[in-house]
Amino acid sequence: MSALITAGPPQGGNAAPSGGSAAHAVESVGARIFCVANQKGGVGKTTTTVNLAAGLAKIGQRVLMVDLDPQGNATMGSGVDKRKMALSVYDVLLESASIAEARLNSDKLIEGGCGYHVLGANRELAGAEVELVGLPNREKRLKTALAAVQGEYDFVLIDCPPSLSMLTLNGLCSAHGVIVPMQCEYFALEGLTDLVNTIKQVHANLNPDLQIIGLLRVMFDPRITLQQQVSDQLKAHFAEKVFNTVIPRNVRLAEAPSYGLPGVVFDPAAKGSQAFVEFAIEMVERIGPKTQK
Ligand SMILES: Nc1ncnc2c1ncn2[C@@H]1O[C@H](COP(=O)(O)OP(=O)(O)OP(=O)(O)O)[C@@H](O)[C@H]1O
Ligand SMILES: [Mg+2]
Repeated sequence: MSALITAGPPQGGNAAPSGGSAAHAVESVGARIFCVANQKGGVGKTTTTVNLAAGLAKIGQRVLMVDLDPQGNATMGSGVDKRKMALSVYDVLLESASIAEARLNSDKLIEGGCGYHVLGANRELAGAEVELVGLPNREKRLKTALAAVQGEYDFVLIDCPPSLSMLTLNGLCSAHGVIVPMQCEYFALEGLTDLVNTIKQVHANLNPDLQIIGLLRVMFDPRITLQQQVSDQLKAHFAEKVFNTVIPRNVRLAEAPSYGLPGVVFDPAAKGSQAFVEFAIEMVERIGPKTQK
């Protein structure tokens, strides 16, 4: 696994996304910043983050992926070895490095035509939670750091840990919107209430820009009647907040991380990978064109 400190923008494909409606237009002079969050564990946050990042890069968008989870799965799943990073998002949060210094490029992503920058995480990040307590501006550290590089990207995607912690709060304070991956299961809606309340609080007190961009149905199996029913319920309750794209359960998406790659790069022809490229196009259409580069 190789990773090198990069200069210059990430390299992606060249195809331009088609235009579309801007029902959820996000005004921004720089990158549009999105958290992928759900405090439930194992619902597909990391899979969504890395595959959306790769899908956006594939359609020509400049992307920074920020791993805010000490598990470092999004880092490893992007072809960056979390054990060999000189600098990580931990150093950025503690203000001992800038994002420009700490971001990495993965050769494997570039070779796959889906290059995006990675601000990686590893176990060290677990300590940040404690170290940030008592520091000034502790929930806005990431936001401040992102402001310096925002002009270099079209999208910043932040993979959040499965908790509503100080790390997740840093993500939510930085973002224009939240993408919520969810499995269409019986308990899915329960967890959603806590997340929606947290987002409302952050919106009211810390980040008036924050909105839920959409709910993404993941690991979907249409043969399971219950999943179809929960999916229908989601659409009935949340209407246009439910993304049109549905990510199917697909074994190639699950295999890809062990090769240090997003599924979109590992097996572009797989149904799951194709769905994530469709989702990338839907995201670009949904949030509208940037107001300025
Ligand atoms: N569409 C899919 N089809 C098949 N397997 C999937 C799919 N999406 C995710 N998985 C698998 O489900 C597991 C959990 O996914 P993932 O790690 O993305 O969840 P997470 O929400 O980030 O977990 P955590 O809360 O621990 O951070 C992983 O093994 C992943 O490979
Ligand atoms: Mg994860």
